[in-house]
Amino acid sequence: MWIDCKSIAKAIEEDVKRRITSLSFAPKLVSVVGTGDPSTASYLRSQERKAEKLGIEFEIIEASSGEFLPTLKKLAKDESVSGVFVARPLPQELDEKEVLSAVPVEKDVEGVNPTNLGLLIYGEETFPPCTAEAVVKVLENVTELSGKRVVVVGRSITVGKPLAIMLLKKGRDATVTVCHSRTQNLEEITKISDIVIVAVGKANFLKKDMVKKGTIVIDVGINYVDGKWYGDVDPAVEEIAHVTPVPGGVGQITTALLFEHVVRAAERQKR
Ligand SMILES: NC(=O)c1ccc[n+]([C@@H]2O[C@H](COP(=O)([O-])OP(=O)(O)OC[C@H]3O[C@@H](n4cnc5c(N)ncnc54)[C@H](OP(=O)(O)O)[C@@H]3O)[C@@H](O)[C@H]2O)c1
Repeated sequence: MWIDCKSIAKAIEEDVKRRITSLSFAPKLVSVVGTGDPSTASYLRSQERKAEKLGIEFEIIEASSGEFLPTLKKLAKDESVSGVFVARPLPQELDEKEVLSAVPVEKDVEGVNPTNLGLLIYGEETFPPCTAEAVVKVLENVTELSGKRVVVVGRSITVGKPLAIMLLKKGRDATVTVCHSRTQNLEEITKISDIVIVAVGKANFLKKDMVKKGTIVIDVGINYVDGKWYGDVDPAVEEIAHVTPVPGGVGQITTALLFEHVVRAAERQKR
């Protein structure tokens, strides 16, 4: 069975629109981009369309490697800017940690600044990474997490690691296992899990015989192969489990949450 993610994204967007009407100014998102590859360009275009639909101002700043840090410094001071998004991958010559540390903490709508990531350890989710938060939202919508055996396949800083911490948070109380490319006998772990989250970046990676019947499966993957989009989960898994679709799943909730964070940042701005 497919899990309905559209209604979750829609509810977040409705909330965003409602909250914007209570602000005395239009929130603004600025996306800083280096040399844009086609997929980054397409993502920024979709951000632009969504911002317009929701009533959020949007600007793209193209920066050369040398301009990244000064641009972020300027945006930190600019009172007309509520949220800052840094498009990745960054140009190779830049140090990712250095750049992301320069994203102003109170405008860090993607939750990439090490301060915001570190706060997750303390259970503070001021600006959690949007994809990890999207997964938590889906799970809280469809099940009770407390005590459930959850396996997160993938340990990236963007998805796997922050997600594992968020699922462990007191109050959510999942029992979490994190797997990665060196994990042995992965299917022994996925098969005994109530919830399987896959964020590996390999099309149709999780197969039907790797999960038990009735498992909740969250597909984070977005893979473009031969002109088509694939998730990390083989569609056949849906015959025995509850699965989020790709496209139209976690991705659209992630985007909705990015804009929810922009509004959250604007609400905290003193003007
Ligand atoms: N829906 C969204 O909004 C959204 C947002 C971000 C990313 N994504 C998608 O999610 C996927 C993952 O993204 P990411 O940024 O987390 O990727 P990433 O940084 O490449 O990390 C991939 C993770 O998968 C693990 N892995 C690779 N092969 C594996 C295997 N055979 N068995 C077990 N683990 C394996 C890697 O292990 P090691 O650490 O050992 O290398 C790594 O931890 C991609 O398809 C990406 O496009 C979607």
